[in-house]
This record gives sequence, C-alpha cells and structure tokens, in this order.
Amino acid sequence: MFQFGKAVTQLGAFKSFNPIFLIFGVRNTMPMTKPIKGFSKLTKEEKIDWIATHYTHDPEATKQVLAHYAHADLDLQKLHDEFIENTIANYYLPLGIAPNFLINDKLYAIPMAIEESSVVAAASKSAKFWLDRGGFRTKVLGTEKIGQVHFMYYGDSNKLTEFIRSIKPKFISDTANLTKNMEKRGGGITDIQLRNKTQALENYYQLHCSFETRDAMGANFINSCLEQFAETLKREAKNYPGFSAKESQIEVVMSILSNYVPGCLVRAEVSCSVDELNEHPSLTPSEFAEKMVRAVAIANVEPFRAVTHNKGIMNGIDSVVLATGNDFRAVEAGVHAYASKDGSYCSLTHAKIENGTFTFWIELPLALGTVGGLTSLHPLVKLALEILQNPTAEELMQIVAVAGLAQNFAAVRSLVTTGIQQGHMKMHLLNILNQLKATEQEKEILTNYFKKHTASHSAVVEAFEKLRQDHGI
Ligand code: MEV
Repeated sequence: MFQFGKAVTQLGAFKSFNPIFLIFGVRNTMPMTKPIKGFSKLTKEEKIDWIATHYTHDPEATKQVLAHYAHADLDLQKLHDEFIENTIANYYLPLGIAPNFLINDKLYAIPMAIEESSVVAAASKSAKFWLDRGGFRTKVLGTEKIGQVHFMYYGDSNKLTEFIRSIKPKFISDTANLTKNMEKRGGGITDIQLRNKTQALENYYQLHCSFETRDAMGANFINSCLEQFAETLKREAKNYPGFSAKESQIEVVMSILSNYVPGCLVRAEVSCSVDELNEHPSLTPSEFAEKMVRAVAIANVEPFRAVTHNKGIMNGIDSVVLATGNDFRAVEAGVHAYASKDGSYCSLTHAKIENGTFTFWIELPLALGTVGGLTSLHPLVKLALEILQNPTAEELMQIVAVAGLAQNFAAVRSLVTTGIQQGHMKMHLLNILNQLKATEQEKEILTNYFKKHTASHSAVVEAFEKLRQDHGI
C-alpha cells in the first residue's frame, strides 16, 4: 500500500544524493509567500515592492531593473500602464523594418516586432529576391467573421427551426443600435443560422452567425451582437406560443466570436521562370526549384515537419501582426486550425513547377483590424500603420500574408541549400557577443571574422577568448 509519510522520507533521501535535485531542486530558496488579497488595488510602487520582496533574491536590484524600463514621459508610461492590469514595467521587443517588398506593384517597407535574430534579415532577403522577379501578387478571398451563441434546447427540433425563422427580424431590430455605425461603414450582420449539433452533444444547438466588420477586427462588435442575440433568444422563447413549458426554457451556455475564420481568407503568391532561380552556386535552377517543391510536399504530408514549417511562416505573420497592434494569439489559433482543416496538420504554403514556371503561394485566414483596439492608442502601432501607408484591413491581410510567404521562402531556401544554421548563427552572433560582454571594437572584429568562418556557439567563444588573449585585453 502507498504510504505518504514513507514516500516523502524516500524522496528526501533520493534528493540528497541525486545530482539532478542538487542542480535543480535547490534553486528556489525563497521563503513561502502567503496569497495576497487586493493586489490590483495597490499602487504601482506597492506592487513592485511586494513582488520584489516576495519573489526575488535582491529586491533593490529588481526595482532598479524595473525602473530602467520605465518611460521618462509620464503620460506615455501611464498609457502603457493602463493597457493591462497590474503593470510593473514595459516589456520591450525590437521593432525592425524589412524593406523592398513589392506587393501588387506597390513598394512597402514592413515593420516587424520580434525577438528572433534572423527573422527580419530573412524577410528582407526574400523581399529583395522577389523584387527582382516581379514581386508578390495577393488577393483577399473573403472577409467573413464568425460568432456563435451556444445553447441547450430540450424539445422538438422542428419547432425550434420554425421559432428561429420567425424571430430573425427580432435579432436584427434588437441589435439595431449596435449595428448602426457598422452598417454606415458597409459592415454588419450578414447571416444567422440555426445549427443542430445534437449528434455531437445531446440537446446542443447554436446560432452560427456571420459578420462583416470592414476595417475593424470586430471582436467587441461581434460579441455585443451575440450577447444581444442570446437575450432575444431567451426572451422570445419564453413567449413563443408553439413551445411547451420545457421548450420555452432555452438555456444559453455562452455567446462568443470564433477565432476560426476560414471565410476570412487571403492568398499571396510569387512566381518566376525556373531559369531565374539562379542564386545558388551549388544547385542548378531546376534542381533548386524541385528541392523547394519537394520540401513543401514533405511539410504537406508530415505533421512533425509541417508544424516547424508553419512556425517559420508565423515568424513573419506574428511579427507584423504584433507591430500593427493586432491580436497574434487569435491569428495563431485560427491559422493552425485552418492548417488542419482537411483532417491532418498540413503546410500553409504550396509550391509547383508548371511549364517551366515556379509558383510558390500561401493561403490562410487572417482576421485583422486597422481601426479600433490598440491601433489609435499605441504610438508605435500608429507609426507602423503609417509606414504601411495606413492600410485598410484587407490591405493589411495581404501584407501580412506576404510576410509569412517571404519568411517561408527564406527558411526553406536555406534548408534545402546551405542549411539553416549558417544564416541563423550569423544573426545570433551579436547575442552571443553581448552575452560575453564584448566591446564594440571586439564585436566589429569578430563580425568580420565570422563573415568568412562558420559560426557556432563554441566557435564564437573560442574566437572571442583568442582575440582577448592576442590583444591582451
Ligand atoms: C525557426 O524560427 C524557423 C524555421 O525552423 C522554419 C523552418 O524550419 O521552415 C527555420
């Protein structure tokens, strides 16, 4: 029989000689902290003081780090403080620019917010490559957003169908005050369908609703409409003469937009004659084209590869989504669901060679906004949108899709030619040198050195140490 006391004693004995526990088990020597009540009501300074004292080893050093990241402009700092609850600091990510993106004959410089060293460089390289080969062609295939009211109904489903049909005008009139402004901008509620989901879950039905939200991502608009639909549904059911007492008690479970938006779709494409794929000394253009097509085909049939392949695409997508103040978690969730729409997880990009032409394209759902949310609040978001020439939401969908396609082209090109580490380590070099606390002069010497030598973590450390010895620094 399992004896708790004995097990604890045995664990104690195990810990005392197990090197893993010695390495990891003793790290947290902080005293146990009691739960705190009313943390959100404390001032920012009190919050910092509490977290520094209870959860860090050197509270003064913690406070200094946080103070370093506070903005000197107090109004700007307040703006950031109020984006979320319990703010203690600003968390910086680099904002980079990938220039030379020719999209439908218009030149863009794309702002990207990302921490991964090689992403902006890879995007820029891809942009330049395709600039010389006609650029990117894009098309929005749909802008439909989705929201659902999930409810339980205990009764005759034919009666429910008739009931929903009869109250559709009420859904529209009850939301008129919410839809008025959106309709002026050409958007609104485009469809309300009853879906019978009882095969999947007993008594479960939903109102599956479609919306057009123009330049807004539309989350607040959609959720407000859905919550009103839910009220209308419950109220009207109570008064519907065709229902029995049980049927009139519709139980709304929840009303929420869906981040799965397969009807809010964009396509971006590049193509050129195979002969123009002549950048690699080690491969002929047609060998290169075929390797690219094969690499994409592998990602299409092998989920382990597809996930990494699509991760590379999301390097480009997320960084533009983030820079333009959009919700990258919503985009991620929707994109990955779309990648699995046919039953297994596949590549978001596609490639083919036909009649001597290489074509490489992406199709993915992107629910984005260029008005509302952070777009008019965050100064860097406003700037990013200005750099992109203040795009409409549809234009932004196309730019973001291009960033994803460009990123994937760069990654797969490296993978099928030099391997990924060469370019990646080149970009990561500065991070390693910063960790080693190299001086500006040392960084310059070593960056030049690694233009001609293969960079790995140990090679950089070795070269750095050698440099210091040689120069007696
Ligand atoms: C790294 O962030 C992204 C890649 O792994 C993508 C890929 O493998 O296609 C390089």
